[in-house]
Amino acid sequence: MTLPARLEVSGIEKRFVEDGRTVDVLQDIAIEARAGEFVSVIGPSGCGKSTLFNIIAGLEAADTGTVRVDGAAANGHVEAFAYMPQQDLLFPWRRVLDNTTLGLEIQGVPREEARARAGALFARFGLDGFERAYPHTLSGGMRQRAALLRTVVQERPILLLDEPFGALDALTRMEMQEWLAGMSTEFGWTVLLVTHDVREAVLLSDRVVVLSPRPASVAATIDVPLPRPRRLDDFAAPAFVAVETAVMRALRAGIRSGHA
Ligand SMILES: Nc1ncnc2c1ncn2[C@@H]1O[C@H](COP(=O)(O)OP(=O)(O)OP(=O)(O)O)[C@@H](O)[C@H]1O
Ligand SMILES: [Mg+2]
Repeated sequence: MTLPARLEVSGIEKRFVEDGRTVDVLQDIAIEARAGEFVSVIGPSGCGKSTLFNIIAGLEAADTGTVRVDGAAANGHVEAFAYMPQQDLLFPWRRVLDNTTLGLEIQGVPREEARARAGALFARFGLDGFERAYPHTLSGGMRQRAALLRTVVQERPILLLDEPFGALDALTRMEMQEWLAGMSTEFGWTVLLVTHDVREAVLLSDRVVVLSPRPASVAATIDVPLPRPRRLDDFAAPAFVAVETAVMRALRAGIRSGHA
């Protein structure tokens, strides 16, 4: 695996102008993830989280601000990031294995090598034996793991995950959260994750960045000073409750003072 990298995002501003109407989306956003850290970004719907990820991944330009990877300017350099967008669909006509090689194929990796690299991860992603299956024969959780596998196998230094579990039922979602907690710790990934779910953010992260309603600014950055990986059972512990409460308060304070 590629060594994880440090990500520094600072001073990001973004507004969209459509039909003469200006929509301010991001205001002076700063986020840091050191190598191997897991950082969650949480904020109200429509505040600008996906826009921020598009900017970090180099798919959209910021009006101002910088994105640095291991200290070097990365604006527009997509090579540093493996990005799982909010709607990350598997192609129904491709077998699961051939879905998971898509990112590598786009990078120009020959098909057989791509298949070998993706296939080697199937067991760890709970997809063993489903290489030749079509996506519609998988459960929702399995499809999300396949989409994650496609992202992870690209071996980019930083993972950007935009609400990877948003579409799952509550039980599957909990299983997936614990699974990702274990995987991210084991592999030492640098991860930036968007979520609406306070518990998910606290379970997975070293740090939670709370955004205000649009135009989003950083309302609070809250450390989670507990060893990883964590389990959902740990949630009764006073330290967890304290962090969860702090994140919830910051979210609600942002909404009360908000502009939305
Ligand atoms: N290409 C675009 N052109 C114009 N406006 C846009 C564009 N992309 C996003 N916006 C606007 O920017 C704002 C933020 O959108 P964004 O998708 O980043 O929010 P989000 O926080 O990811 O929301 P959700 O939690 O619902 O996924 C919205 O008001 C949206 O309408
Ligand atoms: Mg979004």
